[in-house]
Amino acid sequence: MTRPDTRQEEGAQPARRPVLDGRRDRERVRTVIIPDHGDLERLLADRLVEVIARETARRGRCVLGLATGSTPLGIYRELIRRFQAGGVDFSQVVTFNLDEYYPMRPDSPHSYRRYMWENLFDHVNVKPENVHIPDGGTPRERLAEQCAAYERAIAEAGGIDFQILGIGKSGHIGFNEPGSSPGSRTRLVTLDTITRKDAGADFFGEDNVPREAITMGVATILEAREIALIATGEHKAAIVQHAVEGEVSPDVAASFLQGHPNATVYLDVAAAAELTRVKTPWLLEPVEWTPALTEVAVVWLAEQSGSPSRRARRSSSSAPVTTPSTI
Ligand code: F6R
Repeated sequence: MTRPDTRQEEGAQPARRPVLDGRRDRERVRTVIIPDHGDLERLLADRLVEVIARETARRGRCVLGLATGSTPLGIYRELIRRFQAGGVDFSQVVTFNLDEYYPMRPDSPHSYRRYMWENLFDHVNVKPENVHIPDGGTPRERLAEQCAAYERAIAEAGGIDFQILGIGKSGHIGFNEPGSSPGSRTRLVTLDTITRKDAGADFFGEDNVPREAITMGVATILEAREIALIATGEHKAAIVQHAVEGEVSPDVAASFLQGHPNATVYLDVAAAAELTRVKTPWLLEPVEWTPALTEVAVVWLAEQSGSPSRRARRSSSSAPVTTPSTI
């Protein structure tokens, strides 16, 4: 693979070293950093097309677990393109979506049902009877029964072959908010404040965001045979670091992926920015001390020792730099 361009633009942040390689000692789940969004979308689409072809040939159906939100949109666009080019057949694909707001009329423009049809299903040859999305219109008294039926339908389909996940700033996968147990199943949950705040723009204000949602549980997700968690953008960097390098904890549901035998985290450079191999690679292995990397290290060291980083940044760019060999 080619290395990303790390040249520094005038006035931009100091360039990082190439990030596709490097020691991964702190990463507790397989993590792939792909600088170009188009490459990331194509890679995931390739993997999905492969799994669909393999499973439909092997057992006459392929079961996909699907996510909504902004993260998978490019992948869905790429899948539509492949379908139009005759590169993939969805006629034997069975889908299960992770979640739906509650309450939510299925035909509401805010519903995840609408999102899935607009962004994928309307453009490929999936059979409507093979599509499963939690029903946000279910009366409350029938919810427990609906959730149990959702779990049964996944099991009857033979389990999920490939699960796509995004990650919320609360660390959620699906809508498994902080506190979700590793044994949780499809159920009604209360949305975290962070999640509702993030969704505010889609609903013309946080107050309009539903307070609850139906979500597959952590255990439901972890039963998928292959899992891809995708995160892009700097707003995801901190929570990605917790999920990938932190302790496994119900505080960050995505950290449970660390215990899965076939889970991969796919990141762009911005979402990977807090990982040790990107942020402080000198902690893992000897590095080539370019002026830019030295500056980053000096600022980091100043922050660690509580010195005002601004001062460190100023002096590191004006004075000759000493290699921070003590780091
Ligand atoms: C959506 C879902 C959520 C999102 C997550 C990231 O079906 O399950 O977990 O994947 O909130 O959302 P975006 O991609 O909009 O940043």
